[in-house]
Amino acid sequence: MWPLGYKLLLAVLGMAVLVSGLPVQAADRVPMPKVPKALEKTEKGHAKLMRLKHMDLMRHQRDETVHKGIRTKQYSLKACISCHAVAGPDKQPVSITSPKHFCRSCHDYAAVKVDCFQCHSSKPPSSASLKLPLTKQIQGFLRR
Ligand code: HEC
Ligand code: HEC
Ligand code: HEC
Repeated sequence: MWPLGYKLLLAVLGMAVLVSGLPVQAADRVPMPKVPKALEKTEKGHAKLMRLKHMDLMRHQRDETVHKGIRTKQYSLKACISCHAVAGPDKQPVSITSPKHFCRSCHDYAAVKVDCFQCHSSKPPSSASLKLPLTKQIQGFLRR
């Protein structure tokens, strides 16, 4: 048997780790990557669907997802990049070369590499600052 004082010390240390330590997710206590917030709201269920399925939904052969019965509004990659744009120190959207880029927020963490941005732009179409005009552009993309 350990002395009571030692047990108490262990308990206090345990609490300290929980309170101060790594980013902790309430449900499972697995540290999570810090994903930047989107600029606009979108339809219900989007975040959950994208968390689970974006890797399949965005592939060039996306029809397979329809065959499996998953249906969603198809966003263009430009829309993803726009609504999920992240401003750098100069208030301009960062490109995929920045670790702050939305797509890298998880991929760096999960050690995933994608080749998409060799061809596609990783920045919103306008390099204007992340204010209202961009919001209008996002809406424009969603209407297409
Ligand atoms: C009109 C805005 C908008 C567009 C366009 C959009 N999203 Fe989102 N997305 C959101 C919002 C709002 C959330 C919820 C979390 C938040 O507020 O940042 C979200 C969440 C996500 C998440 C989960 C992030 C997390 O915190 O776990 C992923 C992944 C994601 N989106 C991927 C995509 C991809 C891929 C596309 C393009 C196919 C896309 N989104 C297009 C607004 C958008
Ligand atoms: C070798 C170049 C190349 C690579 C790499 C590439 N794409 Fe594409 N992609 C294209 C071209 C060309 C088009 C058709 C032209 C267009 O619609 O912009 C296209 C179209 C798309 C579209 C439909 C149009 C749009 O903008 O939404 C999506 C979505 C897309 N690609 C996603 C991806 C994703 C995700 C990756 C990475 C897994 C990727 N692409 C990698 C060249 C590429
Ligand atoms: C919420 C976290 C998160 C965000 C944000 C995110 N991804 Fe992912 N992505 C993942 C994870 C995790 C995987 C690996 C899934 C697996 O291995 O099954 C992945 C895989 C992928 C794949 C498949 C890679 C492969 O080799 O099969 C593509 C393509 C992809 N992501 C594109 C994107 C794009 C483009 C963005 C930004 C618009 C983005 N992701 C943002 C978590 C995220």
